[in-house]
Amino acid sequence: MKRIQNLRIDYSGKSLDTNKINKNPIEEFKKWFKEAQRKDILEPNAMTLSTLSANKNINSRTVLLKGVNNKGFIFFTNYESRKGNDIKLNNTVSLVFLWKELEKQIIIKGTAKKISKKESDKYFQSRPRSSRIAAWASKQSKKISYKNELKESFLKYEEKFRNKKIPLPNFWGGFLVEPKSIEFWIGKKSRMHDRTIYLKNLKSWKIQKLYP
Ligand SMILES: Cc1cc2nc3c(=O)[nH]c(=O)nc-3n(C[C@H](O)[C@H](O)[C@H](O)COP(=O)(O)O)c2cc1C
Repeated sequence: MKRIQNLRIDYSGKSLDTNKINKNPIEEFKKWFKEAQRKDILEPNAMTLSTLSANKNINSRTVLLKGVNNKGFIFFTNYESRKGNDIKLNNTVSLVFLWKELEKQIIIKGTAKKISKKESDKYFQSRPRSSRIAAWASKQSKKISYKNELKESFLKYEEKFRNKKIPLPNFWGGFLVEPKSIEFWIGKKSRMHDRTIYLKNLKSWKIQKLYP
C-alpha cells in the first residue's frame, strides 16, 4: 500500500478558455453542475460550508445545495445550529464543491441571508415525512445528554404529528448565499491547473485568471 505522501495523480482536465466561458459565473456554475449530474457523481450537490464563529474559529461542514438562481445558492439547516449561530454574527461564508471524478473544484465566497418562511415551508413540505419529523426532533449541534435522547425525541414528534400536517419549525429554513466571488478550478497535467475567478463589481463580474 502506498504511503500517504506518495498518493498523487496527474490530472488530465480540458483547458478552460476564458473567451468561451459564460460572462455570468452562476450560468457557468449551472453548466458545470449539469455535467456533474450527467457523470453520475454521488451527491454532486454536497458542498463544504465554512463559517466564522464569534471567537474567530473557522467551522466547516458539508451541506447540500438545494437550489441555485440568479441571486445565489440555497441550502437548508437548523437556524439554531452552530452554523446558524455563526451566520447570525457574521454572514460571510464560503462554499466549496469538489468533483474529483471531473477533476474540478468551485469555490464560492459570499454572504448568507435567510430566505422567506414561505420559500422554506415550500421546500420543507417537499421533504419525506421522516425528515420533517427529524428536523423537529434534532436540536442540531447541541449536546446529547443520554443514549436514547434523540430517538425519544423523534418518537415524541412522530406521535405529536400523527395524522397531522407537520409545520415548518421556527428554527429551521434556508439560507441564500449571495456570491461575491466564484472560482472555477480544473486539474491539469504537471500541476499546471487552470483557475478562473469571477469577482463581483457592483452589478457586473470581473473575470481574472490566477496562477495555480
Ligand atoms: C453529505 C452530507 C450532507 C449534509 N447535508 C446537510 C444539510 O443540507 N443541512 C444540514 O444542516 N446539515 C447537513 N449535513 C450535516 C452537517 O455536515 C453537519 O453535521 C450539521 O449541519 C451540523 O453542523 P454545525 O454543528 O456546524 O452547524 C450533511 C452532512 C453530510 C455528510
